[in-house]
Amino acid sequence: MRIGFYQFAPIFGDTSKNVERMAKMLEGLSGSQGNSQGKANGADLIVAPELATSGYLFLEKSEVEKVADTVPGYATERLQEAAAKSNCGIVFGMPERKGDKIYNSAVFVDGSRVVAVYRKVHLFDKEKLFFAPGEEGFEVVEYRGAKLGLLVCFDHMFPEAARTLALQGAEIICHPSNLVLPEYGQLTTRVRSIENKVFWILSNRYGTENRGGRALTYTGVSQILAPGGKVLKKAPEKGDSLMIVDVSPEDARSKRIAEMNDLFGDRKPELYRL
Ligand code: ACM
Repeated sequence: MRIGFYQFAPIFGDTSKNVERMAKMLEGLSGSQGNSQGKANGADLIVAPELATSGYLFLEKSEVEKVADTVPGYATERLQEAAAKSNCGIVFGMPERKGDKIYNSAVFVDGSRVVAVYRKVHLFDKEKLFFAPGEEGFEVVEYRGAKLGLLVCFDHMFPEAARTLALQGAEIICHPSNLVLPEYGQLTTRVRSIENKVFWILSNRYGTENRGGRALTYTGVSQILAPGGKVLKKAPEKGDSLMIVDVSPEDARSKRIAEMNDLFGDRKPELYRL
């Protein structure tokens, strides 16, 4: 299976440009089986950053309301069309309107359907003013013979989130992000990949957003990790970056790390006060 990330810097508030940009990126690829033109330079799955359709630095709730989209909706329909042309699925972040709430969601579409929606559980800082926390928790989905779990950015600081996915059998964690704390996310995701023996696709944005006297700089350095934390691909701090690597998801199935140690078999849940 060929998995990758698309690191870029979404334009604040310009949903159509951001969606079109991800669609064009996908249309330049093809799935590992080749696309409709028979090209076979492709990927099976690309992960884009958190809030990739909208940008991140909202100052007021009314701004979020303006760019929030439904699932299915404009972004999923356009990206589904691009996924069909390229035979490659995409996980991307978007502000999702559902009922009277807006969530910071990671949405997974392939060429024929919305495969999964994950609503960010652990909201970071001022996100708490603008988004409702996800209530459904963490679920594993099957895709082309692999088991995938979705998280969004700050979830990386809560080891229970990745553990919950790994205990349900997740082999690849897809992690759209807008990381702002220097090095934390790149480091913690390696640790999560080590402690759960899973593949990890961290897709982080880069650049600085300046709005209303506030500024946030995003740390780039998207990365793909093998079970055990080996860095398979790593983007620079700044600049657009599309990187893809061939992996065998079954490499995440064994949790053995020493002759007499299995990371999951050796757990002592009865002694953990969670
Ligand atoms: C973050 O959760 N976007 C830091």
